Amino acid sequence: MKRITLFASGSGSNVENIHDYFKDSKSVEIAGVLTNKKNAGVLDRCDRLGINAFYFNKHALYNTEAVVNLLNSLETDLVVLAGFLWKIPDSLLRAFPGKIINIHPALLPRYGGKGMYGIRVHQAVVDNKEPYTGITIHYVNENYDEGAIIAQEQIPVDTADTAEVVAAKVHELEYEHFPRVIEELLNKQLN
Ligand code: GRF
Repeated sequence: MKRITLFASGSGSNVENIHDYFKDSKSVEIAGVLTNKKNAGVLDRCDRLGINAFYFNKHALYNTEAVVNLLNSLETDLVVLAGFLWKIPDSLLRAFPGKIINIHPALLPRYGGKGMYGIRVHQAVVDNKEPYTGITIHYVNENYDEGAIIAQEQIPVDTADTAEVVAAKVHELEYEHFPRVIEELLNKQLN
């Protein structure tokens, strides 16, 4: 079994989708979910779905080995960021080299970087009248949204689309592709 540990601090709809995708898998399982938000919606989902969930604060992440130790104790093969906004510290990158990935709700390198998250991303896409947007799944490095790209998927943006409509379309794209890309990565690179 390959074990994935997810970092999430939002509603966790991707976490639930990834859980549903792998729940009967014989090769991949969710080891746990880590969050930096005590009231994140993802925690309710973990409760309902029976997923181990753990909270950590800034001090634990940046000044101690607590998160690395937790990931090791969960026997983590791949760390998946699914709606997690804090920068990953070097100590964690070093402990899991090439084993931390993120999903960004746009076609990087455009519409990424610090402060580009949530509806702001989709609003910028609409404001710039982009004909396409999409998702980017990439390795995490020391800079926001700059690690090597693993996969991108795109969809058209209609001229009448609001940022909210684009957000919904992008979420659908995430549900369709993120679990599959995780599975392919685990099969290919971690064997
Ligand atoms: C997703 O749009 C993802 O691309 C971004 O954060 C959002 C998380 O959404 N990194 P949810 O909490 O999974 O609904």
